Amino acid sequence: MKEIFKRRSIRKYSDKEVEDEKIAKLLRAAMQAPGSRLGSEPWEFIVVKNKNTIKKLSEMSPNAKLVSDASVAIVLLANMDRVHYPQVWQQDMSAAATNLLLEASYLDLGAVWIGTAPTQERMDYLSELFDLSDNIRPFNIISIGYPAEGLENKFLDKYDESRIHYEEY
Ligand SMILES: Cc1cc2nc3c(=O)[nH]c(=O)nc-3n(C[C@H](O)[C@H](O)[C@H](O)COP(=O)(O)O)c2cc1C
Repeated sequence: MKEIFKRRSIRKYSDKEVEDEKIAKLLRAAMQAPGSRLGSEPWEFIVVKNKNTIKKLSEMSPNAKLVSDASVAIVLLANMDRVHYPQVWQQDMSAAATNLLLEASYLDLGAVWIGTAPTQERMDYLSELFDLSDNIRPFNIISIGYPAEGLENKFLDKYDESRIHYEEY
């Protein structure tokens, strides 16, 4: 699957807006991820295109500044009322986030994961911004846009034979 190999974190975007059809595909891909129990997947999403809200997201923390350049940001949330295995909520959410990033690469979009959980101040910032109840936990922000010139998804070889162990360590 070539998208796995060409996906890169892309942090600068052109002015072109991401189409709603593509946003819908990103969300479908995210929800297709494996979860710790079928039917109890915790994920929910806030799609943000409003420029004022995008700016507020970019002010979450220093690592979120680049979100100000995004055409759309998707905030991934875990609904803890739905989850069957609460101890692995972050694994469930990571699977959804990874699917979303791979779909973005497939659609020739640029995207990057903005780390949020488990840093409490970042989670609190998003909870306050969106007035979330305690059962809804912010997981991360994915910043998305068409890549700025010269920054398209492209293969970078990250394979490292020395990390692989056969039969024993
Ligand atoms: C848990 C996690 C948190 C991350 N947080 C940030 C972040 O806050 N800001 C950022 O620019 N990139 C962030 N990234 C993206 C990584 O920096 C990026 O994946 C890594 O440098 C490898 O580059 P690549 O994605 O192009 O392969 C994060 C990735 C993960 C998996």
